[in-house]
Amino acid sequence: MRVAVLISGRGTNLISLIEATKTPGFPAEIVLVASNRPQAEGLAHATAAGIPTAAIPSQGRSREDFESDLDQALVRARVDLVCLAGFMRLLTPGFVAGWGDRLINIHPSLLPAFKGANAHEQAIASGVRIAGCTVHFVRADMDTGPIIIQAAVPVLATDDKATLAARVLAAEHRIYPMALRWIAEGKVTVDVDDRVTIADLASAETGLLISPAP
Ligand code: GAR
Repeated sequence: MRVAVLISGRGTNLISLIEATKTPGFPAEIVLVASNRPQAEGLAHATAAGIPTAAIPSQGRSREDFESDLDQALVRARVDLVCLAGFMRLLTPGFVAGWGDRLINIHPSLLPAFKGANAHEQAIASGVRIAGCTVHFVRADMDTGPIIIQAAVPVLATDDKATLAARVLAAEHRIYPMALRWIAEGKVTVDVDDRVTIADLASAETGLLISPAP
């Protein structure tokens, strides 16, 4: 499976996907890393790994112009699946519909709780005891869509935004490659009611509360 990763910033989830796809026999290959911010640090990680990059600036342009360029780059690279990894720009319903169930995202909360840019502040302010992250198919509304995998981590009384974000990020780095592998293996289906079914999961110790368990 030919995969594009879209980023806007530092790209630690990108790194976890690059590492995973280097594993012998991994059923997906990252063929393009694109950023809507030309200065995104993550682009350098892609270059270091020998992966083609595209900087497609979004600032100061219409959404349609930006997405038209993005779509062309994805089609040119013959991309089968697009992974949003810290891509901080809302995509239009037209773009989302065009890519359908070939567009996935990672979000640092247990969706549908705490959508948006400040998930960790929201979690701490609300007093939840458990936080986490979600990989999901993308739908037009922000941070919505069929859930593929979630991981949960504790929220400690001593946590601030930074310590909670670090704990959640470590979980993100585990579940995004798992979701990618399952999709590339053809195990993931989206049902008519927009819920995900995953076939043939082998059981394993994960050290995290991950659902569905791998
Ligand atoms: C990650 O925590 C990701 O879940 C989040 O941005 C961070 C990007 O970090 N994405 C969102 O909030 C999307 N709504 P990274 O660039 O180091 O992967």
